[in-house]
Amino acid sequence: MITVTVFGLGFVGLTTALGFADMGYKVYGVDIDAGRKDTLRKGELPFSEPHMRDVLREQLGKNFTVTDDPASAVRESEYIFYCVGTPYSEDGSADLRYLFSAIDSTVDALVNEYGDPIDGNIRLMITKSTIPPSTTSDKIVPYVASKGKISKNIGIANNPEFLREGHCWDDFMNADRIIVGCDDDRTKDMMDVLYRPMNVPKFFVSHNTGEFIKYLSNTILATLISYSNEMATIADTIGGIDIPKAFNILHMDKRWNGCAMTSYVYPGCGYGGYCLPKDTNAMLAQSKNRGFEPQILKEVIATNENRPRMMANMISNGLDKNNRIGILGLSFKPGSDDVRDTPALKIIKELQKKGYEKISAYDPVANKEFSLRYPEIKITIRDNMKELYDESDVMVIVTAWNEFRMIREYGNKRVIDCRYML
Ligand SMILES: NC(=O)c1ccc[n+]([C@@H]2O[C@H](COP(=O)([O-])OP(=O)(O)OC[C@H]3O[C@@H](n4cnc5c(N)ncnc54)[C@H](O)[C@@H]3O)[C@@H](O)[C@H]2O)c1
Repeated sequence: MITVTVFGLGFVGLTTALGFADMGYKVYGVDIDAGRKDTLRKGELPFSEPHMRDVLREQLGKNFTVTDDPASAVRESEYIFYCVGTPYSEDGSADLRYLFSAIDSTVDALVNEYGDPIDGNIRLMITKSTIPPSTTSDKIVPYVASKGKISKNIGIANNPEFLREGHCWDDFMNADRIIVGCDDDRTKDMMDVLYRPMNVPKFFVSHNTGEFIKYLSNTILATLISYSNEMATIADTIGGIDIPKAFNILHMDKRWNGCAMTSYVYPGCGYGGYCLPKDTNAMLAQSKNRGFEPQILKEVIATNENRPRMMANMISNGLDKNNRIGILGLSFKPGSDDVRDTPALKIIKELQKKGYEKISAYDPVANKEFSLRYPEIKITIRDNMKELYDESDVMVIVTAWNEFRMIREYGNKRVIDCRYML
């Protein structure tokens, strides 16, 4: 039976682990977060994600094990996946310390006290985390080679993941395509066997190409969002323009019509979440390091960073410092409780900087996650929209949750719609 170890049990790693378990493989999940492992062993998810809890409960004790013994898991596996975080460093580049720590655990498990391989088995080390182009060829391959004879028994690949939070299970199981960055036939053949149950196009490309495709994908999305926000600002500056109507009519062009991508061509509070901000910054940093300073990406980032300030200016326009502000939405997008790099945080901070102290907020799923992740942000969290409405002087829609569309039914208080959704 094919055996897989997955390092990192976040959105990507847990989905990958359960996906392979669902295909009938034996899967070990490894994480450094003991609380997360306990939660998973109880059959609970550490985040909100449709359908995944049912799959977790079905696979726990069947094909999926959350282990505290990564060394044994690695020894038993032919496929070792890295799905750990790759956050920003201070200069915007990707911080690879979690990835290399997991690679170290793998190599340590596969050599004996003399540094020789424990067996002659061939294993693959596969990075699913998003890593800047050339990381595999310039950093991972030489690093593993520096570990001596064991490197001959290891194939190295990257296998970028394109799932969207809120749709993790469906996007993994019904992927549009599988991309494998690998530079040798042995690795290619083993990856082909692994993904055989998935009947989708598979592309075997060079290490750098595999990594680059992921950044192409995320930077185009960031660019579409910043473009839309800049166009909305232009429209505001000119005046007399119905912004939502203009964008909705744009989407009716038959070259766009019906395409899910239109959701990225619409103004809002700027992109947030774990991926677009860090990946756009990492691509810029990587290119600058190699001697080319991209102008479009620089402006995409600048426009995005400026957006929450513009929203805060719009909210504070004519508003007394004693007024109570009710923020609707804390997660970075509807359908998710992820609050990493969420525009709500930036807008709240801008308002507090301006001297607004009476800020309350409500989110259908992210209240707890926001309070846990940002305990330093002093706002009042409310359990429902009505309670927030009753105590606020002005309401601000920050995340485009569908239920916020009914806000007008509560009365005629001022509503600032930063998502152009009403
Ligand atoms: N979230 C997404 O929508 C998405 C989509 C595609 C790609 N990605 C990329 O996938 C990677 C993971 O993203 P995520 O959102 O799943 O992150 P996450 O923060 O939800 O999960 C990462 C997990 O890795 C664990 N971890 C860190 N170091 C470890 C180690 N040495 N050994 C074992 N576990 C370790 C952490 O405790 C955490 O549970 C990132 O590179 C991200 O850019 C994310």
